Amino acid sequence: MSNVPGQPEVVIVGGGVIGLSIAWRVAEDGCRVTIIDPAPGRGATWAAAGMLAPVTEAHYGEEALARLTLHAAGLWPAFNADLEAAAGQGAGYLRSGTIVVGADHSDRLALDDIRAYQTSLGLAVTPLSRRESRELEPALSPSSHGGAYVPGDHRVDNRLLVAALVAACRAHQVTFVTDRVVAVDRGRTGAVSGVALETGSALAAPAMVMASGWDLASVQGIPAGALPPVRPVKGMTLRLRAGGRAPRLSHTVRGLVHGVPCYLVPRNDGSLVVGATSEERGADRTVEAGAVYTLLRDSRSLVPGIDEYELVECATGLRPGTPDNAPVVGWSPVPGLALAVGHYRNGILLAPVTAAAVADLLAGRPLPDVVAPFGPERFPTATSSDLSAGVAIR
Ligand code: FAD
Ligand code: GLY
Repeated sequence: MSNVPGQPEVVIVGGGVIGLSIAWRVAEDGCRVTIIDPAPGRGATWAAAGMLAPVTEAHYGEEALARLTLHAAGLWPAFNADLEAAAGQGAGYLRSGTIVVGADHSDRLALDDIRAYQTSLGLAVTPLSRRESRELEPALSPSSHGGAYVPGDHRVDNRLLVAALVAACRAHQVTFVTDRVVAVDRGRTGAVSGVALETGSALAAPAMVMASGWDLASVQGIPAGALPPVRPVKGMTLRLRAGGRAPRLSHTVRGLVHGVPCYLVPRNDGSLVVGATSEERGADRTVEAGAVYTLLRDSRSLVPGIDEYELVECATGLRPGTPDNAPVVGWSPVPGLALAVGHYRNGILLAPVTAAAVADLLAGRPLPDVVAPFGPERFPTATSSDLSAGVAIR
C-alpha cells in the first residue's frame, strides 16, 4: 500500500470515545493518523454517564457481548495508566463498585431474577438486604428494597476521558480536522483512496476507519450492503452539582423504579450524573420536560437527598444501536475501510478493546478471539460483496 510522505496513512471518521481511542492507539503504533469530526467528543460520548458496567449491563441472551465487556473491564486499569502517562492528565477512573436497589417489592423480585442470571454467567454479585445496602450507602432511601453489590462495575468521568484522549492524540501527533466527511473516495479497484469534506476540500488516504457512532448512512460513496444496520437510540442524562448539605454517594447506584431502570453515578467532586432515558425516536435530541421529570422523580425515590443538589445540565445523546446490541468491529467489504461503530450502551467501557482490535486490523494482525464474533459479516446486509477484504497499512 502506498505510503506518501505527509499524507495520513489512516483517516478516522468521528472523534467520539471510539475514534479518539483508536487514533491514539494507532498513532502509538507509529502511523500518521488524521481524525475528522466537526465537534470531537460531543456525540453520545458527551451525554454518557461513564459507567464501566459489564455486570449490570449484562442482559439475557447476550453472553458473547458479556464476554467482550468483561474483557474490556479487565483492560481498563492498564488503558487508564497508559492514558494518564501519554496525556499527562487523568480521566477520573474509580474502582468503587455498584449498588443495585429496587424501589418496591416487585422491583426487588425482578432484580433477584437478573442476579440469578448474572451469577449463572459467573459474574460477581452479592445479594444485599435493605439494611446492608444502607450501611454501604447511607443516602439510600429507607424505603428502598435492598438488591445487590457488584464489586466489578466501576466508573470513569467520560468528559475528562475525552480531554485526556485528545491530549494523548496530540502527544502522538494525531492531526485533527474540524469538518464533516460527506463522501468516501475510491480508486479504480474500489479501494478507499480518501475522503471528501463538507467544506469542499478532500483528503487522500489509503485506509479509513468509520467511527461515526450511529451516523453511517450520511456518508456517500460506500456501496449499499457494505454498512451494518446502526440506528440512533436517544438517551438523556442530568448533571447535578452538590450543595453544602447534599449527601454524597460513594458508589454508583443503579435502581429499578416500578419496573423502569434508573442510575446515579457520583463524580470525584461530589456531583452526580442521573440517567437515563432510552427512546427509539430517530435522530431527535430535544430535551423534553417529561423525561427530565421522570428521571428526577425516579432517582429521588432512591436517593431523596438529591433535593439538595443543583440541576446544572440536561444532556441528550444518540446511542449507536445494532440489532443485537453489540458493536461492529472489523473490515468492511470495501478494501481499506474498517468499521468501529454500534457500541450502543457500552462505548465508554468498550473503548480499550475496540481501539486495540482496530490497531491489530490496521497492522495486519488477526483480531483477538474475544472480538472476532463482532465483525460486520454477522449482518446479512453487510456480507454480500464482490469486493475483497481489508488491507494492512504496516
Ligand atoms: P459518538 O460519541 O456519538 O461519536 C461519534 C462522532 O462521530 C461524533 O463526535 C460525530 O460528530 C462524529 N461524526 C458522525 N458523522 C460524521 C461524519 N460524517 N464526519 C465526521 N464526523 C462524524 N456507555 C458506557 O460505556 N457507559 C455509560 O455509562 C454510558 N452511558 C450512556 C448514557 C447515555 C445517555 C448515552 C446516550 C450513551 C451512554 N453510553 C454509555 C454509550 C456510549 O456513550 C456510546 O456507546 C459511545 O459514546 C459511542 O461512542 P462513539 O465514538 O462510537 O460515538
Ligand atoms: N450504559 C448506560 C446507558 O446507556 O444509559
